[in-house]
Amino acid sequence: MDFLFSGACHSNRPSDIKYQLKNTKNVIITCPSNFTSAIASDFASSLFHYHSEPNVSIDFRSIGFVEPFSSLVLAHGLKQLINVRQHKKLSTEVIGVESQFGVVSYLKHIGFFKFCGIQAGKDVGEAPGNSNYLPFTKVRSSQIMWKGRVMQKVIDEKSDQLAGVIFPGPQNAGPAMMLGYSIREIIRNSFEHGLVSECTVSAQRWANGEAEIAIGDDGIGVYRSLSKTGRYPTPEKAIEACLLPGVSSQSVKDDTEWSNSGFGLYVCSELGKRFGAFEIISSYRRVAFNSQRIETKSTDIAGTLVRLRVSTADADYFPNILAKIVDEGEKIAETLPGSVKSASKMSKTAGLSKSWS
Ligand SMILES: Nc1ncnc2c1ncn2[C@@H]1O[C@H](COP(=O)(O)OP(=O)(O)OP(=O)(O)O)[C@@H](O)[C@H]1O
Ligand SMILES: [Mg+2]
Repeated sequence: MDFLFSGACHSNRPSDIKYQLKNTKNVIITCPSNFTSAIASDFASSLFHYHSEPNVSIDFRSIGFVEPFSSLVLAHGLKQLINVRQHKKLSTEVIGVESQFGVVSYLKHIGFFKFCGIQAGKDVGEAPGNSNYLPFTKVRSSQIMWKGRVMQKVIDEKSDQLAGVIFPGPQNAGPAMMLGYSIREIIRNSFEHGLVSECTVSAQRWANGEAEIAIGDDGIGVYRSLSKTGRYPTPEKAIEACLLPGVSSQSVKDDTEWSNSGFGLYVCSELGKRFGAFEIISSYRRVAFNSQRIETKSTDIAGTLVRLRVSTADADYFPNILAKIVDEGEKIAETLPGSVKSASKMSKTAGLSKSWS
């Protein structure tokens, strides 16, 4: 291709990613080099402006360092763009995916491109991962709906196994428990509320003890799920409410150990607020907690995506941390009309499938 840039963005377009090629109708979408989750979300949202452009190329050459959540957000946005364009019989070219170096090579390795529908690199879940990273990994309903087994129990085992990839062995028992619990609660939500047949998990661990998990599904989102309660009239209200203790779309008639009590997202968001960061994109809203700062914004990304980043320095005390968060949550729930007042047995339980607990 002969690319002749006419210069920076033209524009009535909302972002600075569009370049018009001289004398052609092609557009090149240049991936940003600085990739915070906020930028990833804005960038992925802006991709919707290219659904109907006749010729679109996505240029990955400038892409900067990516973390699990920002890469999952970007991947969801690209997958949606490519799918919609395919339905409209429009092709989408890619530039720079042949690189064997840097971020593109890492993204190829973790299955990012195949997830998006771009034929480059490994399949989703193909790389085994190690104590630094968990590649894009699908959890499918066919894996967890085993005949005669409680779905949540299978998800619990799967979650511990995924957390154990980045935190292997008894020496990492605390961090594995903290992340295993969080992965379990977020994956459960995809299947129990999102009405999906699969979700995607990715994670990373850094030398300073921080770790990040990212989980995404293409499901109905919190607003539609909570709409059956009749209490949250807008997506804004629903996404705010889903993080509060005791707020659930399920009425707890069946008081089993796995019944929904509205504590899963509350606990995960509190872990993020206290030990790192938490973010949720759902029902076309994005809410992020970062060092006690809250950002909320609308987005065009469909489905539900959750980010939890934590320092694992105190993770050996996770059962105590969990008990404290739940206890505080139950007190808050007392004051919230219509909420479930006490957490389910499993919301209070960590490390179910681990013998070292
Ligand atoms: N991935 C998702 N897709 C759709 N709706 C979701 C999703 N995750 C959460 N929700 C909505 O947010 C509500 C609160 O979620 P949360 O995990 O805090 O509680 P719960 O799942 O109802 O109960 P518990 O986690 O205690 O079993 C859910 O009841 C559901 O309505
Ligand atoms: Mg839940």
